Amino acid sequence: MNSRIVSASPDETRAFGERLGRKLGQGSVVALRGALGAGKTCLVKGIAKSLGITEEITSPTYTIICEYTGSISLYHIDAYRLSGMDDFTALGGEDYLYGSGVSVIEWGERIEKCLPDTTIFVDIEIQESCARLITVSDGTV
Ligand SMILES: Nc1ncnc2c1ncn2[C@@H]1O[C@H](COP(=O)(O)OP(=O)(O)O)[C@@H](O)[C@H]1O
Ligand SMILES: [Mg+2]
Repeated sequence: MNSRIVSASPDETRAFGERLGRKLGQGSVVALRGALGAGKTCLVKGIAKSLGITEEITSPTYTIICEYTGSISLYHIDAYRLSGMDDFTALGGEDYLYGSGVSVIEWGERIEKCLPDTTIFVDIEIQESCARLITVSDGTV
């Protein structure tokens, strides 16, 4: 599956995350790529909503991995501060990727080699003002 949409606001990005989230299941892995402030965390909030999570989602920049309980668990991972794959492996990262929840990774490209073949990639590009170009590709092309 490949799709491309333009989001005009944070609300639209959250709504897109919610639609994407409804298609996910146990063991799904979503890798988010995009600059600081692109809207990665915003999109995760939408995914969390679709999984029935009511707890507020915050950026796990320092904790690296944050787990939320919903209809399916959400593992929210921020790879920004990881120094590399070894760092991720040492944190037990692969147990999350191959676990029973949905894994969503901000700065997913930093641990790309650890990611399963089934990973869904979401690229968010900042366009003028509040517009964001969001491209989803599931690796099967
Ligand atoms: N269309 C949009 N989608 C998402 N965020 C947007 C959009 N337009 C403006 N923003 C703003 O961009 C910022 C995105 O922040 P955040 O989701 O934390 O980004 P990231 O996790 O990629 O660093 C927020 O301040 C949000 O209000
Ligand atoms: Mg973020």
